Amino acid sequence: MRTLDQVRPTLPANWYYDQEHYSRELDAIWYRDWICVGRMDALRRDGDYFVVKLGTQSIVVTRLPDGTLNAFHNTCRHRGTTLCRDDQGHFRNGRVVCPYHTWAYATDGRLVGTPGRIETEDFDAKNYSLYATHVEIWRGFIFINLSNSPVLQLDEFLGDEVNALRNWPLEDMRSVHQEKIALACNWKIFWENYSECYHCPRVHPELCKVTPIYEKGVLSAADLPDFDPEYDGDSIDAAVGGGAKTWTMNGEISLPIIQGPTEEERTQGVTFSSFASSLYVVGHPEFVRSVRIMPTGPESMELTVDWLLPSSYEAEDKQILEPILGLTRLVIQQDGDVCELNQQGLHSMRHQSGALIPQEYELWDFHESIRNKLANMEMK
Ligand code: FES
Ligand SMILES: [Fe+2]
Repeated sequence: MRTLDQVRPTLPANWYYDQEHYSRELDAIWYRDWICVGRMDALRRDGDYFVVKLGTQSIVVTRLPDGTLNAFHNTCRHRGTTLCRDDQGHFRNGRVVCPYHTWAYATDGRLVGTPGRIETEDFDAKNYSLYATHVEIWRGFIFINLSNSPVLQLDEFLGDEVNALRNWPLEDMRSVHQEKIALACNWKIFWENYSECYHCPRVHPELCKVTPIYEKGVLSAADLPDFDPEYDGDSIDAAVGGGAKTWTMNGEISLPIIQGPTEEERTQGVTFSSFASSLYVVGHPEFVRSVRIMPTGPESMELTVDWLLPSSYEAEDKQILEPILGLTRLVIQQDGDVCELNQQGLHSMRHQSGALIPQEYELWDFHESIRNKLANMEMK
């Protein structure tokens, strides 16, 4: 049984707005875990880069001539100036040049030029490479890890969740549409909202039409007390229903079917893969949607939603994408709205903690993992 057998307390309310607690979470989670920061298809040429703001840190990710990546802190080794002001761009001639006194670095991080510096014997450029950080790719998704020595390798960190979408050609897909959404809520609120469907009947009437099990306020039939695997089938995943084939407003598929997923996976219409706390990916028969989560303050966060299609697919007319954007965009707006309300209400001086009910079992697991990570950090 996945559901909780008793009511459990939520995390303390002030963990959602207290600045000091937010800093602890940055240290224990966001600066320690592998965090998804983008897609390879955003870095098409050598020297292309983007900048990620992670908590108080600014990190540059760039593509090297051999197709691998380098990630480094956006800070010059001379006197600490920010190197890149723009969110994305291209390093011309493979050089990262500081805008202050023009120290120049190769994209792999080596200091290769210090124009006009008066020479002294003690200066060794090797001591002034950019501050590197760990970066790895999983099937087109770029992950960084800011700790000096990550506790887990990326594949250990991602675990079995990688299997859910193994049949979708994720590495050969590209983003055909991206939206960034700023939300006035703590990052945990959004993750909690993603982790239950108790809110679905009230908040997502359109989504419930194409995934009728959500009308019952559970993530899948397996969560219902009268679930019988012999009668209901043994899948514990949600599936489209009521004649719908995918997550579009009318449930119809209007783009080419993606090659790879099995007939069963196509019929299911929706498959989730979750990588707390920074990413979840949803596979459908004709598109994939990835949602990245980034905290921007104790009471603010940013979502980056990408709609992915096979690279070979040429969408000449953006109109053709409208069906895959419509419902999923609406669902995110609906979620964002209740997440912000949730955030506001937590400020009541009377509210110290709330209640998790049986179908909120994934929130309990999420909360436990947060408590554990904070405890681990404090033991060190
Ligand atoms: S601070 Fe970058 S070159 Fe001086
Ligand atoms: Fe939702």
